[in-house]
Amino acid sequence: MPDRFDRVRAALADCAARTEAELASLYPEDPDRDISKVYEIEKYSLMAGGKRIRPFLVTGFCAAFGKDRDAAALRLAAAVEMMHTFSLIHDDLPCMDDDDLRRGRPTSHRMFGEAPALLGGDSLSIRAFETVMSAPMSAEERCRAASALADAAGSRGMIGGQMKDMRGETERLDFASLLKLHSLKTGRMIMLSAYLGCVAAGLADGDPRTVAAGEYASKLGLAFQVTDDILDAVGDEKTLGKSVGGDAGHGKTTFLTYMSPEEAGRYAAKLTEEAKEALAPYPECGLMCDLADLLAVRKK
Ligand code: IPE
Ligand code: IPE
Ligand code: MG
Ligand code: MG
Ligand code: MG
Repeated sequence: MPDRFDRVRAALADCAARTEAELASLYPEDPDRDISKVYEIEKYSLMAGGKRIRPFLVTGFCAAFGKDRDAAALRLAAAVEMMHTFSLIHDDLPCMDDDDLRRGRPTSHRMFGEAPALLGGDSLSIRAFETVMSAPMSAEERCRAASALADAAGSRGMIGGQMKDMRGETERLDFASLLKLHSLKTGRMIMLSAYLGCVAAGLADGDPRTVAAGEYASKLGLAFQVTDDILDAVGDEKTLGKSVGGDAGHGKTTFLTYMSPEEAGRYAAKLTEEAKEALAPYPECGLMCDLADLLAVRKK
């Protein structure tokens, strides 16, 4: 039965296939067994079939605003997916969320052991920068992209958010701190993805289209983590392909500390509407609005 998400689902599948081909091309054979082992660890998590939402934002905004810069966008999309996968490998470690299942497979440390998983994650985070620096764009654009990647993933971004997430296990965060935690740990990498699409499209930071993409992505990123919190509590492990119940098990402060799953669902829906409103002046971003609607009802 066709439904209103067919178009965005097909576009997501196409983006996932192209991102995976791009990622595969960035791993040449290496005769050294230890170097090739690190490659194997990286690729085990990287190629395990995530939803590829972040690559879709990079390539989607580039296509909407830039058209013929697809090669640059795809390279940046690969870089974001590497950094994101690094964050997942480390997030699952016993010293963090201590999870056994990710992307439908045993987590990296379950598969390879803790120290190799740590190194595989480290290597992915470094390779993400190497990948940005090989994107077919001007040197100035590559610098903007690399510096945005550092800011979004680092202590003022995702890693800062992960630090707050850990603090939220031992003390109850107030609601404003919880909003900040979600915006940092998940929102910043999602905002980065939209921004990199605009950089690949050749837009300046102050261009109204770059600003609108940023507003959209900030709402979308928050909605995405609210839904993630809901799915951890009421989702199905098999459908999700990752461990569930860990948030409650670790006593984490999440949206469900403050709301029922139904209320949190309504909150995510409101953020989704706000995300779409930011793109209202740009009909060329229709797919990005469909993505927001799709993510609001996702089960994985
Ligand atoms: C999971 O991200 C971690 C969060 C930031 C919530 P995704 O839900 O995008 O995971 P994959 O990439 O599809 O596996
Ligand atoms: C992690 O948030 C976000 C990252 C920076 C990886 P979660 O810990 O909620 O992500 P999941 O639920 O394990 O995917
Ligand atoms: Mg976590
Ligand atoms: Mg986790
Ligand atoms: Mg979660």
